[in-house]
Amino acid sequence: MAAQNSRACLVLSNGMKMPQIGFGTLMIKPHEAVAAVKAAIDAGYRHIDTAYVYDNEEQIGQAIKEVIAEGKVKREELFIVTKFDKNDRPLPTNEKGELRIDVDVDYVDTWKEMEKLVDEGLAKSIGVSNFNEKQIERVLQVAKHKPVNNQIEVNPYFTRQELVSFCQSNGIVVTSYSSLGAPGNMKTEEDPVLLSDPVVKAMGAKYNRSPAQILLRYPVSRGCAVIPKSLNPEHMKENMQIFDFELSTEDVKSLDDLNMNSSQLNRFWIIFKDHPHYPFV
Ligand SMILES: NC(=O)c1ccc[n+]([C@@H]2O[C@H](COP(=O)([O-])OP(=O)(O)OC[C@H]3O[C@@H](n4cnc5c(N)ncnc54)[C@H](OP(=O)(O)O)[C@@H]3O)[C@@H](O)[C@H]2O)c1
Repeated sequence: MAAQNSRACLVLSNGMKMPQIGFGTLMIKPHEAVAAVKAAIDAGYRHIDTAYVYDNEEQIGQAIKEVIAEGKVKREELFIVTKFDKNDRPLPTNEKGELRIDVDVDYVDTWKEMEKLVDEGLAKSIGVSNFNEKQIERVLQVAKHKPVNNQIEVNPYFTRQELVSFCQSNGIVVTSYSSLGAPGNMKTEEDPVLLSDPVVKAMGAKYNRSPAQILLRYPVSRGCAVIPKSLNPEHMKENMQIFDFELSTEDVKSLDDLNMNSSQLNRFWIIFKDHPHYPFV
């Protein structure tokens, strides 16, 4: 594959182009979000990954409004992703204070409602997140507008080979989240740290790149988009510099071989394991 530039885009099945690198915004606090998103746009990000549940959409909207007013970017240059949540705020918790999902709407019915957003011009593209093969198949069976994207965790400790291949063979672009291993998210001292993995570090030395750049190039080499989150403007810039080098096929395989089939967010997702639509099975 030829080296790409930082404006590399993936073409979705509806013909829309999605920048292959986006800016993640999970756990960016509302008071940090305006500055973070403005810094990300200054650093060259044109794809911003958001969600209602991240509780910072209003501030992200403010940042976008400001950069457009400042003439730094046009709205049509930006690819904004959001994810809706069927819960109201505050999110419901169980007796132990853990989050729970107390709605049991069939996602196929939800999909049919989402298609109306496209028909009404309220969304340009619609996709899914954390869907497994069976769930995607059920949606594909009824879809008038096919899901263009599945946003899932993909990194060398959770490579998702079968799911990524399934999506790609069905024309569904995969976005990798937690590509850096989500350091700091619900980790214990015993958890392996992807950014410090010896194989990743050695590969960084070989390519004269940081471990973060190796980890971001890995899903990109597999045809996925990446959406690293950072509050550090130096990291934001570093994370954009992944389109001017390639990993060899052997090195992609070495990263594949680190697979533990284990989500970096296990401690979070596991609390939903009894839900009828739990997707990590
Ligand atoms: N759909 C879903 O269910 C779902 C789930 C999780 C995440 N997501 C999306 O995916 C995005 C990314 O995933 P994530 O936030 O879980 O984790 P991530 O991007 O793997 O990791 C973010 C962490 O990495 C650090 N980092 C960033 N660049 C770095 C660099 N160059 N060197 C060293 N450390 C660096 C950041 O710290 P600094 O701020 O110090 O740079 C931050 O703590 C989220 O923000 C969100 O938009 C979606």
